[in-house]
Amino acid sequence: MWPKAWKLNKVDSKDQIALERLPRHIAIIMDGNGRWAKKRALPRSMGHRAGVEALRKVVKTCSNLGIEVLTVYAFSTENWSRPKDEVGVLMTLLTEYLRKELQELHENNVVIRAIGGINDLPQEAQRELDNSIKRTRNNTGLILNLALNYGGRSEIIDAVKKISKDVLNGKQQIEDIDEGRFSNALFTRGLPDPDLMIRTSGEMRLSNFLLWQLAYTEIVVIEELWPDFGEKALLAAIITYQKRDRRFGGIHTD
Ligand code: FPP
Repeated sequence: MWPKAWKLNKVDSKDQIALERLPRHIAIIMDGNGRWAKKRALPRSMGHRAGVEALRKVVKTCSNLGIEVLTVYAFSTENWSRPKDEVGVLMTLLTEYLRKELQELHENNVVIRAIGGINDLPQEAQRELDNSIKRTRNNTGLILNLALNYGGRSEIIDAVKKISKDVLNGKQQIEDIDEGRFSNALFTRGLPDPDLMIRTSGEMRLSNFLLWQLAYTEIVVIEELWPDFGEKALLAAIITYQKRDRRFGGIHTD
């Protein structure tokens, strides 16, 4: 079923992965592109370009493993405050990525989705995104969920507004508002919450990423910079996740 290029490479650590206990949803803060470039005396744009390569590898690995959802933090609401040129590079890379990768992603049954303020992205990026989402909508494989112009706090405020409107027009009873109803008002409606969140480059912050959805997620912080992240590092992160004891606030009785 899979084209040859998408076969999982032989990696020692794969043997230690329990394939029956994979995380359903992996979320990633792809941090460290700038530092990767600086270390090599390259412009930051080259770090982001290398970051796209790392993303390609990770998408393939997740798809091959049978992960259901991969959410990547590609552009935050705060990233607009970066120099105009850098914002431009990131938007161009997004457009290029979708243009170049769409066919292969589609052939590999990947579903492309996006969360965030998509309407505020440049027209060209919106067009490419729209096209990619429509083209892959009926696929049944990995959901590649791109967080673009995304901020967890504004997502929560949006959800509050949606539910408040429903209360005002009588479609929603206040007493019936529960976690399920709230989750349904978020961009991630219909997706399971992440089981594993990976952040590269050693920073111990959530940076406004999936604030509601990460409530019980296992967090794995990795020292490697994002452009150096690949299949091996992803498998290692999954192994770390599988060694964790998830109790969701409860206790084990055995
Ligand atoms: C953080 O590194 C990374 C970003 C702000 C953008 C992530 C984007 C990509 C990996 C490529 C574009 C995405 C797509 C979907 C094509 P940083 O610049 O904050 O690194 P630093 O902390 O070392 O400066």
